[in-house]
Amino acid sequence: MSNNLLKGKRGIVFGALNEKSIAWKVAEKAVEQGAIITLSNTPIAVRMGETKALSEKLNAKVIAADATSVEDLEQVFVQSMEALGGKIDFVLHSIGMSLNLRKGRQYDDLDYGFLDKTLDISAISFHKMMQVAKKLDAIAEGGSVVALTHIAAQRTFTGYNDMADAKALLESFGRSFGYIYGRDKKVRVNTISQSPTLTTAGQGIGGMDAFFDFAEKMSPLGNASAESCADYCIVMFSDLTRMVTMQNLFHDGGFSNMGLTQAIVEDYIEKK
Ligand SMILES: NC(=O)c1ccc[n+]([C@@H]2O[C@H](COP(=O)([O-])OP(=O)(O)OC[C@H]3O[C@@H](n4cnc5c(N)ncnc54)[C@H](O)[C@@H]3O)[C@@H](O)[C@H]2O)c1
Repeated sequence: MSNNLLKGKRGIVFGALNEKSIAWKVAEKAVEQGAIITLSNTPIAVRMGETKALSEKLNAKVIAADATSVEDLEQVFVQSMEALGGKIDFVLHSIGMSLNLRKGRQYDDLDYGFLDKTLDISAISFHKMMQVAKKLDAIAEGGSVVALTHIAAQRTFTGYNDMADAKALLESFGRSFGYIYGRDKKVRVNTISQSPTLTTAGQGIGGMDAFFDFAEKMSPLGNASAESCADYCIVMFSDLTRMVTMQNLFHDGGFSNMGLTQAIVEDYIEKK
């Protein structure tokens, strides 16, 4: 159902890899709500993945870019303004990758070259994105930038590995750049802390299935789906949240404020 919440707005969605991706759902809902958008992902994801199908469905130009490259990011903003006919109103950063996780390196045996890459891809790319956009004056006044994060930034979750440190840095960039961008250009910057979600990146986390099940039982509303995360992103891009900035917003069915639920107690007693 469309309420035209993004009517007349121009957006860039980074990170739609396949139908499971949170960014994929955001792209679909943004267009449904009246926005025109461009899509961006790595050259390999664009070549090998399903982004092209999404671009055809949504009539959205795809601009291949490695989000760790300032030059690539400049191209994304320049080409998006050209394709969409003006400054950008909203940006989604939905990017994460850890080679340490992929290669099974434990947290007390990290490869530091991989750690550099984790931080660059999953966190510093967010700073680069905002710095590039601000220098190009590419985001319109009242615009909204959102990045996706996870509660492992604040609390320790087994198996999350160096992604936890990347998320802590990402959230910090959201606050620090949010101040500067708000002060100078009236642009909002927020991070959304999402429930475990069964996507390609999500399934790379060690013990994901168990964590997904645990979080489901630990959250009064259950785990938030990718679709509902996309709904929250739409609200954050809309004019309904004009005064919200520099926040880390939990979108997790209540998980972050729970200590213990009846469902977990019953599970524990049953297995004892
Ligand atoms: N799935 C979860 O459980 C969960 C929970 C909380 C937060 N998040 C976050 O949500 C975001 C989206 O992840 P997802 O779960 O939709 O998985 P996903 O695998 O669909 O998306 C990750 C995206 O990052 C892109 N990417 C990787 N390296 C890149 C690079 N160098 N440049 C540009 N793009 C690059 C991938 O191509 C992919 O499109 C990530 O930031 C992730 O950490 C996911």
